[in-house]
Amino acid sequence: MNALAYHVESLRGLDGLSRRAQEIPVPGPHQVVVRVRATSLNRRDVMLLEGTYPLPLKADTVPLVDGVGEVVALGDGVTRAALGDRVAGSYFVNWIDGPQSLALAAEQYGANFDGWLAEYIVLAEQSVVHVPAHLTDEEAATLTCAGLVAWSGVAKPVPAGAGETVLTVGTGPVGLFAVQHAKMLGARVISITSTADKAERLRKLGADEVVDRASTPDWELAVQELTGGLGADHVIDAVGMLTLPKSVAAAAYDARITLIGAKASEVPAAAADIFGGKYLSIRRVAVGSRTDYEAMNATIAEHGLRPVIDSVFPFDRAADAYRHFMEGDPFGKVVITVP
Ligand SMILES: NC(=O)c1ccc[n+]([C@@H]2O[C@H](COP(=O)([O-])OP(=O)(O)OC[C@H]3O[C@@H](n4cnc5c(N)ncnc54)[C@H](OP(=O)(O)O)[C@@H]3O)[C@@H](O)[C@H]2O)c1
Repeated sequence: MNALAYHVESLRGLDGLSRRAQEIPVPGPHQVVVRVRATSLNRRDVMLLEGTYPLPLKADTVPLVDGVGEVVALGDGVTRAALGDRVAGSYFVNWIDGPQSLALAAEQYGANFDGWLAEYIVLAEQSVVHVPAHLTDEEAATLTCAGLVAWSGVAKPVPAGAGETVLTVGTGPVGLFAVQHAKMLGARVISITSTADKAERLRKLGADEVVDRASTPDWELAVQELTGGLGADHVIDAVGMLTLPKSVAAAAYDARITLIGAKASEVPAAAADIFGGKYLSIRRVAVGSRTDYEAMNATIAEHGLRPVIDSVFPFDRAADAYRHFMEGDPFGKVVITVP
């Protein structure tokens, strides 16, 4: 029997993406085959299509790293999953726990291992992650990349919590998950955005204060004011080098800044001296390990968090989903369902 999958045949954006039939995969030892129910897009998936992602693609790879489905076949020796389980996969095929190495970072689904834009995916059993039961398939298919990297920023190595302020910069999926995770952990949240409409939606999501960077370009001063001149204890900068100087200026003297965004263009000249005498920590994080993913899911289940979904496209309109993701300024995740 045949199954459909999209493949990246060449790095020409959407022109290089094609759909065709292939054999239903058979699991090898310590592998499971999952019937995909839903998958979703991340910024990296566009970079991968355009050839700007730092990791080279496997030839003819099946794209996308977020997804959820049902285990339908087990290879020899599998103990971490059973037939019928509803599962996702971790971002990195073999990063289970502890610090990440370059070798672990270099093995990723939807890049050099086939990903989720298909009717079936093969997962290494150690990368299987069970998803929170209260989530729909569309919701459960949003957590692997943006959900987990926001969690790593807010909850690792020490969770933000009550009495602390978390500043989120950017309202892509990473920024939205950061708002939700920070509220789950009991922190006060200040969010930066660019329109009144997004400001309203951020408040509904739980942000305690929102600063509109269009009407308040000096948003770092507004954050200082909102924190009584102390600054934010944690900053999740989901934009990049462009906003880092302002994130530093908005931060507390000994803050933790997690730089998740990769946008580097138009860096202000002032970036040469952005620290202003503060002894804060700035770090970058690469998504998270399987163990981090499981910890996040346990907290999501405990609090009943529901991911923000912008839109849902059917499998045969995957290219439209990519287009909407790239050009539509979505608020929340763009999901593709697999019938
Ligand atoms: N390290 C990792 O593991 C990892 C994982 C996932 C994603 N990422 C990176 O994280 C970043 C965010 O991804 P995403 O998918 O959540 O969002 P995204 O689609 O890249 O959107 C980012 C948001 O940033 C804001 N923004 C854009 N330009 C800005 C500017 N000049 N100044 C201030 N804000 C600006 C906009 O929000 P407003 O209009 O509301 O201001 C926009 O919606 C991307 O660079 C992505 O590659 C990294």
